Amino acid sequence: MLTLLHNAEIVNEGRRFKGSIVIDGQFISRIFDESTPEAGDVSGLEAALTSADRVIDCEGSLLMPGVIDTHVHFRDPGLTEKGDIETESRAAVAGGVTSYIDMPNTRPATVTREAVDNKIKRASEVSAANFGFFIGATNDNLPELLDTDYTRVAGIKLFLGSSTGNMLVDDPDTLATLFSKAPALIAVHAEDEAIIRASREKLLEECGGSIPVERHPDVRPRSACVEATRRAIDLARRSGAHLHICHISTADELQLIKEAKAEGVKVTAETCPQYLLFDRNDFDRLGARIKCNPAIKDSSDRIALLRELLPGGVIDTIATDHAPHLLSQKEGDALTAASGMPMVQFSLRAMLELLDTESELQTAGPERIAELMAHNPARLLGLDRRGFIREGYYADLVLLEPSSPASIPSKVTDAEVAGRCGWTPLAGMSLTPKVRTTFVNGTEAYDRGTFATPHGSPLRFTSGTASDGKE
Ligand code: DOR
Ligand code: ZN
Ligand code: ZN
Repeated sequence: MLTLLHNAEIVNEGRRFKGSIVIDGQFISRIFDESTPEAGDVSGLEAALTSADRVIDCEGSLLMPGVIDTHVHFRDPGLTEKGDIETESRAAVAGGVTSYIDMPNTRPATVTREAVDNKIKRASEVSAANFGFFIGATNDNLPELLDTDYTRVAGIKLFLGSSTGNMLVDDPDTLATLFSKAPALIAVHAEDEAIIRASREKLLEECGGSIPVERHPDVRPRSACVEATRRAIDLARRSGAHLHICHISTADELQLIKEAKAEGVKVTAETCPQYLLFDRNDFDRLGARIKCNPAIKDSSDRIALLRELLPGGVIDTIATDHAPHLLSQKEGDALTAASGMPMVQFSLRAMLELLDTESELQTAGPERIAELMAHNPARLLGLDRRGFIREGYYADLVLLEPSSPASIPSKVTDAEVAGRCGWTPLAGMSLTPKVRTTFVNGTEAYDRGTFATPHGSPLRFTSGTASDGKE
């Protein structure tokens, strides 16, 4: 079947131009650039208009490559009261996310090839978006990690600090061997366990037993992040392994990574919308809803992170760390309330909105968001024919209405959350750009509130790409 997306505002590879796209089955078969009369192939477009089985009028809408979210926790198997692959992948496509990589802290933990195979099998049946999985490192599963086929598995996830699921790897010899032998990308949760433990003890004493949730950034202080990131960079420097630092939350780590990159260490950097939207003052308003690990830090960290999103900045990718918990599990104090928040459904809209509201991003446009959320994730993982709007590539696309008609409220509500947890930390926030349609492998996985029968495919990886995130 031929579908023509007619007269869209196409955002791709640093450009924004008026154009049309032909989808043939799963793939993009033609791109018509109508930005200049010379570039336009008028007769070709006319022929496409006649031969298309259907024409979708995209006038006034942005067409971007679908988001590739390289960091989600979909809770399947074992924690499915919070969410599962079916519900969370629906949330993904409702937010313009066409591919995701799920983390191993499920029950059982994904620390064997068999556990990965089980996830792939389950996702093949129920996932609305394309899917991939990290295999988790433990203190004793090195043989398993070395025997893994990294064309089917995204890479290795390493918790240098414990978080939900307690998958801490703390044996120095294991870490050194893992880095020196790793045949794939190592994605790291970088927080130092000893520093966290000491801060916790001190605060427990200071607060008399219960630490208020707004002190979470003191329980998991910046020094814990900086120390662990420094250690991880050191391991990468010695081994030559490709280190990917997840969810960066401090200005200090940005500096460390900048220096390491300049030195030639193979390191890439990820941050998440929550560290760009919130700072610790927001605990007053949002409480445990924004409690996550690493903790949300200071307003100066937020500003530094925003600045490093600009071209040439340290941040390579934006992922969500989508970590749904039930609101009932979010009750309690800094130690007892669950850590993590859902984000996959609103990440693209939130990032586009930040372009308008943050002066640090004044010089950036949606082209930069496409780079951070689709192109660079595809480069990072060496994804096969995804992440770009190119002829011959999979038609993984998102169509956005950049300005909502007055009749449609742009304020986010908990009621519109497609994931199982049923809430979002963004409730009440105005996000003007709206996802109209999300195409996964050429067909609408999501269209104005309706979901199609799931048809996500397993991702294929070539891995081992350049440290600067460029091809
Ligand atoms: O806040 C977090 N939540 N950080 C993590 O590292 C894990 C995640 C989860 O799975 O809940
Ligand atoms: Zn983490
Ligand atoms: Zn995570």
